Amino acid sequence: MKILAIESSCDDTSASVIDDDRVLSNVVASQIEHKDLGGVVPELASRKHLLHIIATVDHALKGANTQKTELDAIAVTRGPGLLGSLIVGVNFAKSLALALQKPLIEVHHMEAHILAHFAESPSPSFPFLCLTVSGGHTQIVRVNSPSEMQILGSTIDDAAGEAFDKTGKLLGLPYPAGPEIDRRASKGNPIFSYAKPRIEGLNFSFSGLKTSILYDLRKRVKENPRFVEEHIDDICASVQKSIVDILIEKLIKASEQENIKEVAIAGGVSANSGLRNALLNHREEHSWNVYIPKTEYCTDNAAMIAVAARFKYKNVDFADQSMTPDPRLAM
Ligand code: KG4
Ligand code: ZN
Repeated sequence: MKILAIESSCDDTSASVIDDDRVLSNVVASQIEHKDLGGVVPELASRKHLLHIIATVDHALKGANTQKTELDAIAVTRGPGLLGSLIVGVNFAKSLALALQKPLIEVHHMEAHILAHFAESPSPSFPFLCLTVSGGHTQIVRVNSPSEMQILGSTIDDAAGEAFDKTGKLLGLPYPAGPEIDRRASKGNPIFSYAKPRIEGLNFSFSGLKTSILYDLRKRVKENPRFVEEHIDDICASVQKSIVDILIEKLIKASEQENIKEVAIAGGVSANSGLRNALLNHREEHSWNVYIPKTEYCTDNAAMIAVAARFKYKNVDFADQSMTPDPRLAM
């Protein structure tokens, strides 16, 4: 069973072909245009998707050695994401499904991040907990089955990825700052500490951390105008440790509350080496089986959309041509 999936929810145009549970291709066209603009510019992103989508899909089909006529279904991200970006992928997928007379499958972007774990083996057993951390979301999800997910906690302000990106902006790093902070953190030591949020239950908050970092930097730069450039690696290590500590603390709490030892991470921030190491370091103490996706399945990619669509295909859960993108699609 071959599925072509398309992902265009933010600034990456991606297409993938899977054959049953084998990923045959996973092509990602990234937009570097946003790098110096401090964040994704929605209008620019949708225009770039339009430019990239045909070549990306072609590339994915060629890489999978697959003809369009061999496809059994076309899958696409319906939301959440940027409306203009989603429209490009959804309309392309609808047109292709119509032309080929194949079923269309709509996929929820965050559910796909979680189900990316089934692109590889071993995959988690149900029920499992997934810490889903991206540029727009931070959630702890109890995954009872591929179609039944319960959000146990989520951020009340910034997402974890935003905490990385906004702090990076303060430090003068290009967007998205997460990977750069990660790289620099590996060369530094977490010698600075920042205010910890006090949020009840399993919800998160990152805006206080950002303010605490800002005030700390201001104070130190007043004393030494070269503070940031002289200590950038240590600052990055400290920022990363603060964010990871907040995430891990809630994950431990969720595991104890739900009595679940199957623990996974997903989304762009799950590429972070500090978070990956922290999860491995806690494995023994909490008797966790941990699941960490390959880096190419952490950040936005269409293979995860294809894997999520495979579950829907098996349930004959198809969309029709009246389907429209939903920037705030609920889980
Ligand atoms: O899932 P994703 O690719 O796109 C969204 O759906 O948002 O996540 C993007 C986010 C960005 O905030 C980026 O800075 C962050 O993931 N990110 C990282 C790393 N790689 C990507 N954050 C920390 N460390 C990384 N290595
Ligand atoms: Zn994402």
